[in-house]
Amino acid sequence: MGSQKVLLLILWFTVVARADLPGTWELVVADAGIASMHTAVTRFNTVVLLDRTNIGPTRKLLPKGHCRRDPHDAVLKLDCYAHSALLDLKTNQLRPLTILTDTWCSSAQFLPDGSLLQSGGDLDGHKKFRKFTPCEPTAFCDWEELQKPQLHEGRWYATNQILPDGSIIIVGGRAANSVEFFPPRHAAAVQFPFLAAAEDNQMDNLYPYLHLLPNGNLFVFANNKAVLYDFDKNLVVREFPPLEGGPRNYPSAGSSAMLALEGDYSAATVVVCGGAQYGAYLERSVDTPAHGSCGRIVVTQPDPVWEMEDMPFGRIMGDMVMLPTGEVLIINGAQAGTQGFELASNPCFYPLLYRPEQPLGLRFMTLNPGSIPRLYHSTANLLPDGRVLIAGSNPHYFYKFKAEFPTELRIEAFSPEYLAADRANLRPALVEAPETVRYSAAFDVFVSVPLPVVGIVEVNLASAPFATHSFSHGQRLVKLAVTGAVPDGSGRYKIGCTAPPNGSVAPPGWYMVFAVNQGVPSVARWVQLIS
Ligand SMILES: *[C@@H]1O[C@H](CO)[C@@H](O)[C@H](O)[C@H]1NC(C)=O
Repeated sequence: MGSQKVLLLILWFTVVARADLPGTWELVVADAGIASMHTAVTRFNTVVLLDRTNIGPTRKLLPKGHCRRDPHDAVLKLDCYAHSALLDLKTNQLRPLTILTDTWCSSAQFLPDGSLLQSGGDLDGHKKFRKFTPCEPTAFCDWEELQKPQLHEGRWYATNQILPDGSIIIVGGRAANSVEFFPPRHAAAVQFPFLAAAEDNQMDNLYPYLHLLPNGNLFVFANNKAVLYDFDKNLVVREFPPLEGGPRNYPSAGSSAMLALEGDYSAATVVVCGGAQYGAYLERSVDTPAHGSCGRIVVTQPDPVWEMEDMPFGRIMGDMVMLPTGEVLIINGAQAGTQGFELASNPCFYPLLYRPEQPLGLRFMTLNPGSIPRLYHSTANLLPDGRVLIAGSNPHYFYKFKAEFPTELRIEAFSPEYLAADRANLRPALVEAPETVRYSAAFDVFVSVPLPVVGIVEVNLASAPFATHSFSHGQRLVKLAVTGAVPDGSGRYKIGCTAPPNGSVAPPGWYMVFAVNQGVPSVARWVQLIS
């Protein structure tokens, strides 16, 4: 090869490298053994992966002697396969967990003490509660089936949200247009006619989007409709204008996030993005293009309207992940079809970064594409180190590996650009923070940063949501009021913080606390917010 050709080649590589889109991908686990359709990160830096029980053989066995003998299992009366597992983020090793009743399309939230309260599912799991109390990765902990209480109504495709007092509301589900609570507040489920009004002939009101607002009311979005719900009085206190562009909830599979709460916490903004075209599910159409419209609304304003914006790609089954910076990562999903088994095509490999502070029309940035289709039953969760964990994808009724879109057992992590090497000098280390904080309390955290700090270092609380079906139940980011970073003379900076004022701004429980310096987050520490 002539030296000119070599030069040209070098030039070509340089140009291609420059043209690379932001963000990097890595394989975390080559074979998790199960496809996680529900995923949650615990305060011990472990990740609960959860599939469903009536699915037959997975690729992960239960420990010897721990097979389930279950006359109610629809597929295996003697089932030696794991349907849940715990991933240790330190070692990337997985340990099988034992789940007994069927968790298919169920819902969950972390309770104030850090245990995961899981509810509903199909068949023998329809009315069940289960609990997983996480432990140090070296210790043993497992699912516990609660005999009491049970759900009043079977809940399949419901959404859960932790409330200001630490209890949980469970909203909707198939043939369950009602709400109920854990612990139970009433002798029966409470009818919620809004959900019935939002139902159409292909459902479209399942897995409703819930956002607990700082004023204590619950924003509920189903199909293309939204209301503000006072769950204590069972009253719809406000109706919002409908969102144009078609249905957004199951089976039409958009996603939603509430933007970071900040300042005096008086305002809350909700974003709903993507979804299938109406009829794609009815007609079982795999090829109908998804739409790419996003609506954004300041739900605390007197007469809010949806501000519309188009994503660079149509997308169904995208996950909206609140990053520690307040930006939103939109990842996973497909560009055609609808939710459900075998019903989507044209995977959308490109994540997007939604930058809320940018002007309308400039908010989306296209990121480095992945290579593994993540369709129905895939998940995305923010990790304490700032990466986003990507698991699952199983568009089939059982595990099926010979298919265009096979059951996916690989777990990946996507690192946003803030983790790039050229930003390492800005990356703060959160060297000291309290483990427990009371509402409204003033407290200090200490950070160290390679380069001198200029400007404000944010201190932000991120909840650990329960991700399933393109929606992260209980996801919220709360930016704390902070003082400027003051050098403490030993190479560290002290930042004075004020805890959220009450449980409507941030329900009680364990949060990841991130220091964020010029858009670069630290590794989080876990802090428990208590009253
Ligand atoms: C919680 O704090 C928010 C923000 O300051 C406020 O609007 C709301 O009224 C408070 N709720 C209660 C119950 O005090």
